[in-house]
Parts: sequence; structure tokens; C-alpha cells
Amino acid sequence: MPDLKAISRSTTPPVAIVGGGVCGLGIAWRLAQAGRAVEVLDKGEVGRGATWAAAGMLAAGAETEPGEQALLALTLEGRRQWPAFARELEAASGIAVGDRDEGTLTVAPTRDDAEQLRFTYEFQRGLGLDLAWLSGAEAHRLEPHLRPGIAGAVLSAADHQVDNRQVALALKEACLRAGVRIHERCSVTGLDLEAGRVRGLWSGETRHAADCVVMAAGAWSGGLSWLPAQARPPVRPVKGQMLTLAMDPVSPLLRHVLWAPKIYLVPRDDGRLLVGATGEEKGCDERMTAGGVYELLDAAWRPLPAIEELPILETWVGFRPTSRDDAPILGETPVEGLLVATGHHRNGILLAPVTADAIAQLILTGETTEAVRPFGLARFDRDRKPRAAVAS
Ligand code: GLY
Repeated sequence: MPDLKAISRSTTPPVAIVGGGVCGLGIAWRLAQAGRAVEVLDKGEVGRGATWAAAGMLAAGAETEPGEQALLALTLEGRRQWPAFARELEAASGIAVGDRDEGTLTVAPTRDDAEQLRFTYEFQRGLGLDLAWLSGAEAHRLEPHLRPGIAGAVLSAADHQVDNRQVALALKEACLRAGVRIHERCSVTGLDLEAGRVRGLWSGETRHAADCVVMAAGAWSGGLSWLPAQARPPVRPVKGQMLTLAMDPVSPLLRHVLWAPKIYLVPRDDGRLLVGATGEEKGCDERMTAGGVYELLDAAWRPLPAIEELPILETWVGFRPTSRDDAPILGETPVEGLLVATGHHRNGILLAPVTADAIAQLILTGETTEAVRPFGLARFDRDRKPRAAVAS
């Protein structure tokens, strides 16, 4: 029996994916599984941008805020798909991705905080989210190290978390095993167009032939000079400072993902406790600051004072790829053969499976799935200046 996927791979021009984050690698993996030849080009190492910097919270329940109603169907779909995606990825790569299902606990340390939390809870329940209001005593039974006197809490039991760094390693391995060609430290310098249609990419003097290019360059997406102006997504980097503390893995201080005012804490199986994150409009400034560390530790100490005994293991800065309306930008552009998958803001890990399936399906069948239809680049058309005005 001939290997039909291998034959298809050798006869169909490749798909080129610019950016090897969780979404770019996810798309590459899905396409390779379907028998397409795929190349991933990354200006650094794949999986080491926002994917590495993230916390891996799959918290579609706890994190939905007023103004994000339109995004809810997509984030819920992401959360629904993750457990099966994680199992498939682990089987394909041999790398565990740390899927945990304790849920997200949001705590209100003071009565004022509880008023605010009650408002958010009523809003989220009104959207049909499955959440439970807990008294302070009930929250303490779930997490005994919480500060005494917690005024109230909300449990979103359906939320999960994954270890995003393990996901990055697993996706790279799954891609390689599926035949994806990965080019690291390979900056794209030009788009090869013929009669307005994509024919490939340039990286310096090297041409990468492709009949379809997916731009999945995360926080850098809005500033790529090789992208035609009409295909450039309104995406900017939003800086986040984070740090990791070391818990005793045998007797961890925390078991649930915890949200408290201005802070989240994410416990990992190996005892790491991630603390995040600032949200700063500072362009690409990669520096940790004293104010950032102070803000994180102060906000984390308020609900969980015992952290003051924990060693600091790591600090880092990441850049969220944030679009003008905080929602992802997925699908076609005015340039034939050029697609975008970017702008995931705080939800890149959560939305990776649904992004990968939707973009792969669009390439393979030409069809845009219902889930991503509202999130096309065209929704920003009315904000774009007429071309004459741009030129002047
Ligand atoms: N999703 C976590 C963050 O944006 O900080």
C-alpha cells in the first residue's frame, strides 16, 4: 500500500508558518498529520516566546470579564478541547504536559473585594458559566494556607491548567516526528508574491517556496515590515513580569490555580509556584523592575502569606500578543495565500487547539469554522486609513 501522505507531501507545495509558538506549532502539527508538507520559521527558538513565558491557565470560567462575551464561545471551546488535545500530544511526543483539573479558585481577601467578586460572579453566572460561590471557611477547607478571614471565593471547577513549557517541548517533538521542517534563528525578510498571490518567503538570500503562508508571529505580528500593509494585524506587545517560587512538592502550599486581586498563582506538580503577572504598555522592554517584583510579591502575599518563606527560583518577562480588541485574529487576509493566527492576548495556550484546527481546516478545505468566523482581520477594516492617506 503506497504511503499517500508521503506522496502528497512530496507533490504539494509546502505551507510556511512564520512563528513557532504554541499556535504556529499546533497548526504545523495538524497540517503534517493531514499529509501536508510544512515548514516553520522562527526568528529565535520555537516555543520560547509568549508560549514559554505564559502560565498555562485554561481558565475560561474564572477569567471571563465584562466586554468579553463575544470571546466566550471560543474560550469555552478551547477549554473543552484541551484534555483530548493534551492526551493526543503526549502520545505523539512522549512528553507529559501536566494537565491538571483542580479548577480555578478566585478569592476575595476583604469585604470590599467580596463585593467586587460577587458582581463578577453574577455576571459570569448570567453567561451560563458553571461556578460555585464559597464562604471563607469553605475556601479554607480547599486551601488551608489562605490568609485567615477570607471574605468569600468562587470555584470554577471545570477549569484546567497545563505546563506550557512542556507543551512547547511536546509540540516541537510531535511536529518533528510528523515530518515538519523547523528552521530556528531564521528571520523572514520578504514575502514572495506573484500576481498578488503568495509563492513563498525570503529569509535573507534563501527562498522558501510555499503556496500558503501563515503569519503566527505573536507579539511581533504588528511590526513585521515584510507584511503588506493591508495584511498587517493591529497587534502590540503587552509586557508581563512573572516569577517562580519553590514550594515543597510533597506538601505544596497551594493545589488550585488561585486568582486574588491583581495576581494569579499557579502550582506545578514539581513544586514550582508561578506568580503573575504585570500588564504593562512598555513596548519590547525586557527588563524586570523592582516595582514589578514588589507588585507581584505584595499581591501574592496578601492571600497567601506563607509565600514569604519560599525561595525565588526564576524571574522573567514575556510579551502578550494583544490586538486592538483583545481578541485573536484568525484566518484570511486581503493577500491571496496569506493567513494570520495571532493576537491571542492572555489566551494563547487556551486557544491553541481550536486555533490549530481552524487554521488547518481553512488551509485544507477552504472553509472557515463557525467558532473562528467572528475573529477575522476584516473586523478592523473600518479603523484602517484609506491607502492614499497611508501613503501621504
Ligand atoms: N494569561 C496570563 C497572563 O496574561 O498573564
